[in-house]
Amino acid sequence: MTHRILILGGTTEARQLAGKLAARASVTLSLAGRTESPVAQGVPVRSGGFGGADGLAAYLTETATDLLIDATHPYAAQISANAAQAARMAGVPILALRRPGWEPVEGDRWTLVGTVGDAAQALGPAPRRVFLALGRQEVAAFEAAPQHHYVIRSVDPVEPKLAVPDAEYLLARGPFRDAEERALLE
Ligand SMILES: NC(=O)c1ccc[n+]([C@@H]2O[C@H](COP(=O)([O-])OP(=O)(O)OC[C@H]3O[C@@H](n4cnc5c(N)ncnc54)[C@H](OP(=O)(O)O)[C@@H]3O)[C@@H](O)[C@H]2O)c1
Repeated sequence: MTHRILILGGTTEARQLAGKLAARASVTLSLAGRTESPVAQGVPVRSGGFGGADGLAAYLTETATDLLIDATHPYAAQISANAAQAARMAGVPILALRRPGWEPVEGDRWTLVGTVGDAAQALGPAPRRVFLALGRQEVAAFEAAPQHHYVIRSVDPVEPKLAVPDAEYLLARGPFRDAEERALLE
């Protein structure tokens, strides 16, 4: 019997995992539907929210899903919490794919902050050149520090634009290569 797997995605890892599992199971990939033109995923895709944990649990039951895989982005906390709860409610096993965190290495200079707002404050009063590679829902916090020059990279355009006088916008989709990142920063 072919196993039915639902992967909650929206990440490169989810797409790669779906591609690898597709030969051995019936895989559906779920996207939130936020990105205007998502990259081809290579497996059947469903798009849009489920209506909370209850909705996801009902979906798992209706589709006779055997395994739920949470491969969503680390910032996407709500869907991960919903997935854990829905799996419990529907009696479906769940596997969560977690990215290892960044570890400081020799020569790094880290400033640890609790929130995006704190990061904006930590830039200090003097104007600096700042690269923002945050989710586009996150960048508005930097309007509190309008003295800086910002380079803002996102998959879809940041709308509305940041209310700061000096910002450049780059549209790009990861994964990004070391050499390209270095060139961009330079
Ligand atoms: N946040 C980021 O910076 C970021 C970066 C890269 C990729 N992504 C991807 O973008 C998606 C949305 O991120 P978010 O931060 O807005 O999520 P979130 O705050 O955790 O989720 C908000 C709501 O969006 C729906 N949803 C989220 N992911 C879904 C999925 N894979 N399939 C179906 N519905 C989903 C759910 O709606 P219902 O309650 O109605 O089910 C969820 O309650 C995630 O799938 C994530 O993997 C996010």
